[in-house]
Amino acid sequence: MYYRLNAHCQLVKGACRGAIYDFKSGKVFSINPDALQLLEKCQGEPIDEVIDIKLPENKNVLEFIDQLTYRGLGAIYINKPEDKSMKNTEAEEQRLSFLWLELTSKCNNKCLHCYSSSDACRNDDKVPHERWMSLISEARKEGATSIQLIGGEPLLYPKWRELVIKANEEGYEFIEIYTNATLIDQSCIDFFKQQNVNIATTIYADNAEVHDQVTLHSGSFNKTMSAVRKILDAGIPIRIASIIMKTNENEADNILKLLEDLGLPATKLDVVRPTGRGDDEKLLPTKYKNPKIRPPFYTSAEEFWKAHKYHSCLAGKIAVSSTGDVFPCIFARNEICGNILDSSLSEILNGSDLQKCWNTTKDDVKKCKDCEYRYACYDCRPIAQSNDCNKDWYASTVECAYNPYTGVWQDDDSTE
Ligand SMILES: C[S@@+](CC[C@H](N)C(=O)[O-])C[C@H]1O[C@@H](n2cnc3c(N)ncnc32)[C@H](O)[C@@H]1O
Ligand code: SF4
Ligand code: SF4
Repeated sequence: MYYRLNAHCQLVKGACRGAIYDFKSGKVFSINPDALQLLEKCQGEPIDEVIDIKLPENKNVLEFIDQLTYRGLGAIYINKPEDKSMKNTEAEEQRLSFLWLELTSKCNNKCLHCYSSSDACRNDDKVPHERWMSLISEARKEGATSIQLIGGEPLLYPKWRELVIKANEEGYEFIEIYTNATLIDQSCIDFFKQQNVNIATTIYADNAEVHDQVTLHSGSFNKTMSAVRKILDAGIPIRIASIIMKTNENEADNILKLLEDLGLPATKLDVVRPTGRGDDEKLLPTKYKNPKIRPPFYTSAEEFWKAHKYHSCLAGKIAVSSTGDVFPCIFARNEICGNILDSSLSEILNGSDLQKCWNTTKDDVKKCKDCEYRYACYDCRPIAQSNDCNKDWYASTVECAYNPYTGVWQDDDSTE
């Protein structure tokens, strides 16, 4: 008699516990070390050679097998079954899909936490307009379908409209401008509408006093909110981000209420990240915290196999700064993978520096490589790296309290 996990399940071994990834329900089930060992042995040998199920002390093993069978995760076979488990179908070759263009490091705000350290005095933009234009074509040929114009404040870049028109001519499916929205006038609104532009912007409070304390620009809240209302009235798609730091940590609920009043979905509030001017402990909120990484974890066959080969967030993305430097993400500013002023995009995309970032999986990350959740768990390399004292690209994240070597969640001692 044999016991096998069903073909839509995969067993993943951690240093202590294990997990069953069920691609049918999309759930990841945690199992204890004994159950892990039993299932591993059952994949090769008949179950009656692994364990004497008639012995009363093995009653709990039978109950466990019953539970798995009841949940549709495994089945009993009289004769040795064929191995039908899904194999690691090579994930498709990763192509470029999304790019950020940081058109300028200039900004009319001077936010306390700005990762690009933007302000009105910055004067280090180096990319000629013609290079931005050719890059938009090159990136499209490399497979990109989504583009975001960002900064600094992208509307301070004199010819931003030409770049939007170029992106539409090249056939990008999604064009977004990430702006502080203080410079938006009616002609911008008409242009956004005509060119199918999506807008992203940021608010730090539901009132001018606190918002302007973050942006260090008196009057910025009223300008941003007035633009948001005009954008909504024009039916232009808009999303509003918010970053929490000490100055505005009491505003979290007010921000969510303001979004609700505007008829917008709740945004995921993010705590300031230690990059650029944001790399300052004095900015950190004292009470507000990002939620910790915890179960439940979810899976699909496609994501599971992709996570064996590529980084779940970074793969397929690049950010290009106004000096031409290419990073794997706007927050990963230590990882320079080339410069578009002295290389073609294709050279940079195929270069070892960018490929290292796209190919970073949790099998490479300290601690996570020994965790049974590693093919279902979210990962942000730039956050992990910037919080690490050695700025190690493969550092584990401080946002997780799991110890895969003991199987214990250290914040509440539960193993579910
Ligand atoms: C750099 S801004 C550029 C676009 C535009 N100027 C704006 O502020 O919306 C893009 C987004 O990054 C956020 N941001 C800047 N520095 C950050 C940091 N250190 N940690 C987390 N988010 C940050 C901003 O709050 C904003 O939502
Ligand atoms: S976060 Fe945006 S608005 Fe604030 S200084 Fe940076 S670029 Fe300017
Ligand atoms: S962050 Fe790493 S250790 Fe924590 S649950 Fe995810 S994979 Fe496991």
